[in-house]
Amino acid sequence: MIGMRMVDVIQKKRDGETLTDEEIRFFVDGYTDGSIQDYQASAFLMATYFSGMESEEQGALTMAMVESGDRIDLSAIEGIKVDKHSTGGVGDTTTLILAPLVAACGVPVAKMSGRGLGHTGGTLDKLESIEGFHVEITEEQFVRQVNDLKLAVIGQSGNLTPADKKLYALRDVTATVDSIPLIASSIMSKKIAAGADAIVLDVKTGDGAFMKTPEEAEVLAEAMVGIGSEVGRHTIAVISDMSQPLGFAIGNALEVKEAIETLQGRGPEDLTELCLVLGSKMLIAGGKTDDTKEARHLLREVIDNGAALELFAKFLEAQGGNPEIVRNPELLPKAPVIREVKSTTTGYVSKMEADEIGVAAMLLGAGRATKEDDIDLAVGIVLKKKIGDYVEAGEPIAVIHANSEDTQKTESMLCKHIHISRQPKKRPPLIYKVIDRTN
Ligand code: URA
Ligand code: CA
Repeated sequence: MIGMRMVDVIQKKRDGETLTDEEIRFFVDGYTDGSIQDYQASAFLMATYFSGMESEEQGALTMAMVESGDRIDLSAIEGIKVDKHSTGGVGDTTTLILAPLVAACGVPVAKMSGRGLGHTGGTLDKLESIEGFHVEITEEQFVRQVNDLKLAVIGQSGNLTPADKKLYALRDVTATVDSIPLIASSIMSKKIAAGADAIVLDVKTGDGAFMKTPEEAEVLAEAMVGIGSEVGRHTIAVISDMSQPLGFAIGNALEVKEAIETLQGRGPEDLTELCLVLGSKMLIAGGKTDDTKEARHLLREVIDNGAALELFAKFLEAQGGNPEIVRNPELLPKAPVIREVKSTTTGYVSKMEADEIGVAAMLLGAGRATKEDDIDLAVGIVLKKKIGDYVEAGEPIAVIHANSEDTQKTESMLCKHIHISRQPKKRPPLIYKVIDRTN
């Protein structure tokens, strides 16, 4: 931009003014190509942290980051491509269930998936616990499979949102990660670069989540829905509970098994309900219907008549996986050591510290702390109780699936972080709010 100076952009943001599209693009392009240095970018991020950004600025920031690198072109796929994003939690198996569920209703699911760090692997790691399954497919195959089956998953490739990568690293060392406009634009840019026409967000709240209270989660959700309307991507946000792990299983193969059970209509109540809520919003965003009740009915139907499970099997087969696992989950990797953790007292489960339970699963080998770590797909934890449940002394509260006899540390972590009280405890709500500006 001729004549534009970064110092002026920083000052304008510092003083709480609204930046123009050109000013935001000047910053993002300049930082990405190296003509703007870390010291000015840091000052800009801190100014944003304190002054915030209007919706239109967040939209401009999002699109400037999208355009900083490659974009996935899904235009050869018929229909509205809806992507789903979760802000992260423990034992979150929803993607594995939602993808075939929504696809079986006719809404195309063209998913790009990476490995990522965390308590368990990403969707990709979980799928790779199925013998033979792979995501190294060509873009042509990806597009053809989505048109034929309505569902395909491809590994992350290309140089997506390099501006976000560089800015995220800088935020990490300048105490500017937890700024709502910066988080919201970072998440939205990645979804849009991956080709999403519409986006359904699962914004988690509670101990195990980034946003600790429903109020904070709502602010983030509103920001992302606002960006969606700025940039012309229908975006719906659901605020859901992460004060305890979702479902019962935490681990890769264990979660695949739980996903299959849920697609068979006999999954955990909370996981099933969240999938119905998110799935119905995906059908609405995908233009299948505009009525939530009807959407739920369609989803129920493909569970009850077996169509969702059948589609999951076909999808696995199309990408080299053994489709038999949907009828016989015993074919999934199994841990050699299985050990029950028993309650030492009688009472009601009052608290399950999701993040700590996630760390316990990671220590067994279910997740990665660094990019180079190997994952053990078989190991993990299966909870036997949820908050509010009654438990007697000596009754199992969880089952550990481990690759060695040495499970003492995991056992003591689970005992410490699953709290039992004498007083009955009410279950936390599963869904706090749905934000959809179109209705
Ligand atoms: N997740 C993201 O992708 N970006 C953020 O800024 C925070 C969480
Ligand atoms: Ca789970």
